Amino acid sequence: MNSFLNKKILLIICGGISAYKSLELIRSLKKKGALIKTILTKSAKEFVTPLSISSLSQEKVYDDLFSLENETEMDHISLSRWSDVIIVAPITANTIAKLSSGSSDDLASTVILASNKDIFLVPAMNVRMWEHPSTKENVIKLKKYGFNFIGPEIGDMACGEFGEGKMSEPRKIEEKIEMYFKNFSKNKKFKALVTAGPTHEYIDPVRFISNKSSGKQGYALAKSLSKKGFETTLISGPTSLKVENDINLIRVETAEEMFHATQNSLPTDVAIFSAAVGDYKVREISKEKIKKESKFNLELEKNVDILNYISNHNSLRPKLVIGFAAETNNLENYSNKKLNEKNCDWIIANDVSNKKIGFNSDFNEVSIFYKNHKNEKISFKSKSEISDEIVEKIINHLN
Ligand code: CTP
Repeated sequence: MNSFLNKKILLIICGGISAYKSLELIRSLKKKGALIKTILTKSAKEFVTPLSISSLSQEKVYDDLFSLENETEMDHISLSRWSDVIIVAPITANTIAKLSSGSSDDLASTVILASNKDIFLVPAMNVRMWEHPSTKENVIKLKKYGFNFIGPEIGDMACGEFGEGKMSEPRKIEEKIEMYFKNFSKNKKFKALVTAGPTHEYIDPVRFISNKSSGKQGYALAKSLSKKGFETTLISGPTSLKVENDINLIRVETAEEMFHATQNSLPTDVAIFSAAVGDYKVREISKEKIKKESKFNLELEKNVDILNYISNHNSLRPKLVIGFAAETNNLENYSNKKLNEKNCDWIIANDVSNKKIGFNSDFNEVSIFYKNHKNEKISFKSKSEISDEIVEKIINHLN
């Protein structure tokens, strides 16, 4: 099957002698049925013309962030949302530096910064520029941010030197993107469920018991799953976080609501229980606001353990059940205990006594405890990078 048919590709061309190769890329992708919109940076126009590109892509070429005409027809946000994938070919040392510092002073960098799509960077530059420590550092940073690189290759350069820095050939770029689309459609058959955030266990109409969970790790996991093609449902306790359109978000407040929403959303292929569900609820919630008195006792009772219930259920249990463990000590012992007692396939554990990670932080460091093999550690990274790595492991497991 042709993986490119009707795929929406946003191609960003930066200034470099290899920009001519992008014309060949457009021609070939068009032939395979892809829809291509193109952004040219200012310096790219020194190497290829908007006219040659629009003739090949049969689409308008975008080049000016502040063009009134462009912004009314398709603004910088819509351009990224429109695309299935973004390719930047060639990307120069300058644009790499801009992206690594989060700068957005033209349409190309603004679209990339605002993007929620997978982005492939195809560098082309002189060998010394590629090997310069500042470029190297920027590339490491971009890889950490989740950008994918194609090339560069080793060979003779337009400037007469030899080394690493040559832009990959259009055929190679096409192969990589084809693989990306193939994997994406393979994952499309998978359904995922994620629980996230805290719960509110009400005492009276205005008071509740809760915890410090921000939901950030769960939301990041849902985003990574959805980005990779999974049909994703996120069941979230109260948070102020937002989600992308293609995630099915179910907002709940209490553990009981989370339990019902989870049952109604199953079965799925994978379920990740990252929510910090209140272990107890108030036995009798007062209908009226409780007034101050000299003595006040709260009687609590246990909430259903959602993870435990689902992982032991005959028909609702997903193929892969992943629980979370937030611990302050004895991480390995407690995690293995939860793995067995809660009948999980994996437990993802983090040390919440470390202030730099865990609750409300944008960073995390986790250990994954498996039922059938040795545990693994994912070292200090942003929660979105951690999620991407976990989702890669999930994909490998399901395939
Ligand atoms: N969990 C759940 N439903 C509950 C309680 C917990 O689904 N009512 C899930 C969490 O989403 C998480 C895992 O169980 O995946 C955490 O296990 P838990 O035993 O609740 O951890 P702690 O609350 O940290 O337990 P303890 O306080 O005993 O360490």
